[in-house]
Amino acid sequence: MERGRKIEIVSLILVLCLQLVVAANVSYDHRALLIDGKRRVLISGSIHYPRSTPEMWPDLIQKSKDGGLDVIETYVFWSGHEPEKNKYNFEGRYDLVKFVKLVAEAGLYVHLRIGPYVCAEWNYGGFPVWLHFVPGIKFRTENEPFKAEMQRFTAKIVDLMKQEKLYASQGGPIILSQIENEYGNVDKAYGAAAKSYINWSASMALSLDTGVPWNMCQQEDAPDPMINTCNGFYCDQFTPNSNNKPKMWTENWSGWFLGFGDPTPFRPVEDLAFAVARFYQRGGTFQNYYMYHGGTNFDRTSGGPLISTSYDYDAPIDEYGLLRQPKWGHLRDLHKAIKLCEHALIATDPTITSLGSNLEASVYKTASGSCAAFLANVGTQSDATVTFNGKSYRLPAWSVSILPDCKNVAFNTAKINSATESTTFAGSSAELGSQWSYVKEPIGISKADAFLKPGLLEQINTTADKSDYLWYSLRMDIKGDETFLEEGSKAVLHLQSLGQVVYAFINGKLAGSGNGKQKISLDIPINLVPGKNTVDLLGVTVGLANYGAFFDLTGAGITGPVTLKSAKTGSSIDLASQQWTYQVGLKGEDTGLATGDSSEWVSKSPLPTKQPLIWYKTTFDAPSGSNPVAIDFTGTGKGIAWVNGQSIGRYWPTSIARNSGCTDPCNYRGSYRADKCLKNCGKPSQTLYHVPRSWIKPNGNTLVLFEEMGGDPTQISFATKQTGSNLCLSVSQSHPPPVDSWTSDSKISNRTRPVLKLKCPVSTQVISSINFASFGTPKGTCGSFSHGRCHSSRSLSLVRKACVGSRSCTVEVSTRVFGEPCRGVVKSLAVEASCS
Ligand code: GAL
Repeated sequence: MERGRKIEIVSLILVLCLQLVVAANVSYDHRALLIDGKRRVLISGSIHYPRSTPEMWPDLIQKSKDGGLDVIETYVFWSGHEPEKNKYNFEGRYDLVKFVKLVAEAGLYVHLRIGPYVCAEWNYGGFPVWLHFVPGIKFRTENEPFKAEMQRFTAKIVDLMKQEKLYASQGGPIILSQIENEYGNVDKAYGAAAKSYINWSASMALSLDTGVPWNMCQQEDAPDPMINTCNGFYCDQFTPNSNNKPKMWTENWSGWFLGFGDPTPFRPVEDLAFAVARFYQRGGTFQNYYMYHGGTNFDRTSGGPLISTSYDYDAPIDEYGLLRQPKWGHLRDLHKAIKLCEHALIATDPTITSLGSNLEASVYKTASGSCAAFLANVGTQSDATVTFNGKSYRLPAWSVSILPDCKNVAFNTAKINSATESTTFAGSSAELGSQWSYVKEPIGISKADAFLKPGLLEQINTTADKSDYLWYSLRMDIKGDETFLEEGSKAVLHLQSLGQVVYAFINGKLAGSGNGKQKISLDIPINLVPGKNTVDLLGVTVGLANYGAFFDLTGAGITGPVTLKSAKTGSSIDLASQQWTYQVGLKGEDTGLATGDSSEWVSKSPLPTKQPLIWYKTTFDAPSGSNPVAIDFTGTGKGIAWVNGQSIGRYWPTSIARNSGCTDPCNYRGSYRADKCLKNCGKPSQTLYHVPRSWIKPNGNTLVLFEEMGGDPTQISFATKQTGSNLCLSVSQSHPPPVDSWTSDSKISNRTRPVLKLKCPVSTQVISSINFASFGTPKGTCGSFSHGRCHSSRSLSLVRKACVGSRSCTVEVSTRVFGEPCRGVVKSLAVEASCS
């Protein structure tokens, strides 16, 4: 190689290396976070690393970057990192350093919310359960043992990040850290100690000297220099507690979480985009989607009460890592439009004026003459026409238009330019094994470490959450003459439990069960026999509570009363105060059935089905292809499942969502609430459970389930999730032209027209057919379009010509292309297409 060229390359490498380690100075002022002295408009999204696999991380991060994110936010999950005191885990899904480095490699920043209380629908809010047993401990208040542990873990994480040079101050990606989480929502319950606890949390965090700012969310009294930030469905009305702090939004809920027994929440993207635009319109400069990718609560990590295994959250990237369209695409366009305003946004506060009732303009104008404007219609009923700077603008109800040059609309939150791509689950031909073997879990006490105690024990204090299961067992003598045995009248077992699931076995037979988010009260008619009878009660937790003041003391299990009543005479005897035998966990958990390796498995037929407490095992080959994999557990009851020894979480397809309150489609106009838009009423809350591809080998995989209720495992099947091959979109003449037609210096030619753009999501596919196309006034929504009164007869042939055979196509939505089918009417082009 020629010498000059060599020097060039060496110096290029040097420059690159230097760039990688060059420290950035992160600070803040009234307007924004400053990186190296420059105010920044930042868009952030939450991805919780243990809710996916390291193999999925690069793709999730890339899709976030492509969606226009600058920052990835994650909590740090103490219970995962320190499952036993002083025994740390930073491997696999808990490889935090790797996750942060991958984000850095993609060129994005990190917001590290250490907590260490995180809420997050995570078991026990992220606290390891051993913390509860530290002598004298009281959580989240002025309590020395708690503070010592909180400080130790927080310091541990900060030290780890520092060692790896991951703070921006060291050249890394972390620009911000969070301490505590929404304590301000519950602090009243903690009395006077709350204030000093929060002050202590702040100074403890500051003493760790990360070199980047800290925030506290939902903490109005966060002491300086902590930035108090907002969480909610809307944060445009929020103001930080000092004029020297920027207006920041740490949780913009992109949907909501699912609970077992609940319908599925969703949040229309028009409303989500509206909330974001309103925030930047009213002076915000940093917002974070909670969640951008929700993922899966593998293992026993889901919080309580009764949080489902899926943590999909209706996020822009779905549980399986696929884009949710048009949500992802519409937000991407929104981010572009906001970024076109950055220059003006960071320069000044907005000047906010009313343009009429429910109509508002915000103008950001710099001294050097650049100007950006946001026009909002916060009315929920009617569209409006406003005059702004002498020009007229049509604003749909509940929408914001963004004008990066104070003249032309780059984006309107209610006008979607991205196609719907319906992802689908397809049955997989991969056999889930016709060969099943089984082991029966003994009913009642079977382990040597069982113990006796008078009275009923609270479950979490007894199991320390080592298992979901606790046996409460009693032997009692029923004499022949007792009222409980009379002909024609049954005895009734009355029991109360703090949750979440309870099974009652009488003389080895399942007599009844119940479950609930709150207290469970059961009256179970039972048959007793003269002489010895056994009562075996199985208490089951489904995720420990994660939210609320003193959530850690919520309790679980059968705490009583437990009585035996005579249905005939009404007389009763108290069982609660008797001598009970306890067993923590299942025998099969101790003998390691989850891995599938044990010699206990029985393969002789018939396979026992529809009986409680059975372990099942089968082997299978990987479903073909590379699409994400799920198991459909329809046919089973409730339990936990493992693939090759890795827990894919709790399954519970028999938990049915209530039959009322669903609204699908849902009117996006008006304030969103967690229960506003629900679907899937009357159906199982969750039948499909994610099995990460990387956990499956080509052949010889093991699936183990522990079935509590009774079911038929031979009915379960694989499904793979495909990106949508059907595209659907309607763009009107009043839509803004594509945001991509703007140049980076916020200019657009005013001759640019709206277009309809289609693109097959899979790179090897092309548009194979146009199933519907109408330029005019088409009716209906995606999947059910039909011609309206006004329709250009050229629609179908023109769209076919432009699109069929190509991966993507762009059709201008104008009479120049389609002719004039009806004068004086705003027309739309609606298209449905298939890719293959
Ligand atoms: C917030 C909390 C988050 C999460 C969210 C609901 O209150 O900070 O951790 O629990 O609610 O998904």
